[in-house]
Amino acid sequence: MIKKAVLPVAGFGTRFLPASKAIPKEMLPIIDKPLVQYAVEEAINNGINEIIFITSPEKYSIKKHFKKNKELELKLNKSGKMGLAGKLNPEKFNKVKFYYINQEQQNGLGHAILHAERIIGKNPFAILLPDDLFISTKSCLEQLIEVYSKEKSSVIAVNEIDDENIHKYGVISPGNNISGSIEIDDIIEKPSSEEAPSNLAVCGRYILNYSIFKHLKSTEFDKSGEIQLTDAIRSLLKEEKAFAKIYDGEKFDCGSKDGFVHATIALALRDESISENIKKIIKDLV
Ligand code: UTP
Repeated sequence: MIKKAVLPVAGFGTRFLPASKAIPKEMLPIIDKPLVQYAVEEAINNGINEIIFITSPEKYSIKKHFKKNKELELKLNKSGKMGLAGKLNPEKFNKVKFYYINQEQQNGLGHAILHAERIIGKNPFAILLPDDLFISTKSCLEQLIEVYSKEKSSVIAVNEIDDENIHKYGVISPGNNISGSIEIDDIIEKPSSEEAPSNLAVCGRYILNYSIFKHLKSTEFDKSGEIQLTDAIRSLLKEEKAFAKIYDGEKFDCGSKDGFVHATIALALRDESISENIKKIIKDLV
């Protein structure tokens, strides 16, 4: 039902300078896989077959990463390393169409999403922010798709955030709770802890109806010169219902240094090839 996903990757990644000067933040690896690949795999595993990157010319390595590298595969095969082909050119990418659209000015998430309108057409679509990494038995996107199939309305993943950090996120004002999902009454971008209508903050997975484009087009630039997706969703709520799903699983904010290190440690402890060593290293360090 949801066949298209938009992955905005055009941001400056200032919190990761100088690492993000030459390497896109989204290409930084958690253990041995770039952040962006976790998001792409989550999309593909849920039946998505068109991935639309909103990117910038500087970030050509993302395009290179999702392109088949036959030459290297051949060389690896010749040197007896056939086992690596699956890592190099994963089969699951074969049936996926990748699009790359440049966002010339980094005018915010809403502005980035607007670039996907022509390819999305009149279809519902997913948005995955690759710097949010989700680890759960049922993926975050699958949890949203379940709600979307019932409600046929836009649905956003949310999680509980403490008072000190709520000002960093979009926050929903929750309405009726309908079998596992919450109707959204209102949504506000980066409220102060006093203004925040709840402790439920938007995290980086959405399924939106294409009607969002109309609202994005009429959304004005905010004080910081950005078009906020949250503001467009707020406008959409005046005309149609939208839902929030409290994400069930672990979430790592890999756009921040502490979240990135947290994800690295958590995944290292689950990687059988290194976990015993890592446990020992951590024990020695602390
Ligand atoms: P962030 O605000 O977390 O990313 O945007 P950033 O701006 O790259 O990072 P900092 O804050 O400077 O460290 C969330 C996602 O939206 C994309 C980013 O690439 C990231 O994946 N984005 C943001 C765009 O594609 N375009 C924009 O204009 C802004």
